[in-house]
Amino acid sequence: MRGQLRDILNTKTAYGFKSGSGTIIGCPATYPKIGASAVSIPVVDLQDLSSPTLEHQEAAAQAILEGFGKYGLVYIKNHGIEDADLTRFYDSFLEFTSRPVEEKEKVSMPEIWYQRGWTPPETEQAVVAGGQPDFKECYFMAPEPLDPSAATEYPEVYAQNVWPENAEVFQKSYELIGHQLHEIGLFLLRGAAKALGLEPFRFEQAVYGGPHVTRSLRYLPLKDDQVNTGILWGEEHTDFNLLTLLPGGRFLDPSGSYCPKPDSSSGLYLRTRGDEKNPDGELLAGSAPAGCIVAQVGQELEILTGGQFLATPHVIKAPSTPGYSRVSMAHFIHLHAHQVLSPLPKFRTDDALRAYSPPVLAGTYGMKTLVDIGLAPTDVLNHLGYRHYDRLSTIRAKS
Ligand SMILES: [Fe+2]
Repeated sequence: MRGQLRDILNTKTAYGFKSGSGTIIGCPATYPKIGASAVSIPVVDLQDLSSPTLEHQEAAAQAILEGFGKYGLVYIKNHGIEDADLTRFYDSFLEFTSRPVEEKEKVSMPEIWYQRGWTPPETEQAVVAGGQPDFKECYFMAPEPLDPSAATEYPEVYAQNVWPENAEVFQKSYELIGHQLHEIGLFLLRGAAKALGLEPFRFEQAVYGGPHVTRSLRYLPLKDDQVNTGILWGEEHTDFNLLTLLPGGRFLDPSGSYCPKPDSSSGLYLRTRGDEKNPDGELLAGSAPAGCIVAQVGQELEILTGGQFLATPHVIKAPSTPGYSRVSMAHFIHLHAHQVLSPLPKFRTDDALRAYSPPVLAGTYGMKTLVDIGLAPTDVLNHLGYRHYDRLSTIRAKS
């Protein structure tokens, strides 16, 4: 079945669709800017990253340098994630999102800034959104062991997982894919360090024990009168973590079946680095070639590399057809909260220092961002300064 589908998908107009087994694969082979020319985003073969052959390693390094440097992303093939596992996960996630709100609220945790469990629709907003929340519901979980010493200092982002009742398939398939995405990311970070001429484990050791999180998202269907009213599934933003892995989302038609993209402009778009011809970069459709997943650079990696790697601005456009929804998943690899966010010595030019100053702890940077996007309350920022001014007042009041 897969071979047949691949043949079909090699045609110019083929997009992802639902097979008899519910598997969705496939996207266009080229990635046009809206209304403009096509570009080719580099594909990294994960097997090249672990190959003992120098030629293979150099091919991977070149793809990473070009992809992360110019586009802020690469496609990855031979990654080992099975379509059937992803389908099982999305099916179980949709079963959870179909439950009554009262049930979903049992695993909704505003007290930890929604960093675990269910985030209700219209909670999060992008920094540039001007107050308009995104039209989506989400679920967060951490697939990797967390550094227990950081949990006292950053209880919200180092929180334990929460799971709904009677959701064993959801939990197991979520943990499986979250872990796989994390491992793929570590391979890629090792390749990126080598490609930049850094110690091979420079990034990998900096993320060990970090507050990595896997998020599943359901973008909500628009009603007739909501179409083309400016409602966004996800406003344009850059991810604030180090590296994001995207295994591929799926559209659903009004009957709830997986389906092709309902119209040409909906879905994920990514903005490339600006140049003389296009100072603001180009907005490209972000669908990966059949069998590939996407890895994109986050703000932390841009800062550490002094801007050599680019955090990719991306946007999720809602369809202009009512009734269609979408599920997707993202794994966010973060620096450990104790890591300092500042260009690494190799990238510490005057321009880079000016652009990425002052240095800040990754954990602090995360808190600030979660306030900016509306998940954490603003008074959290008061925790970043001295908090015992009242001590002297108390002493003076006694005297
Ligand atoms: Fe994002």
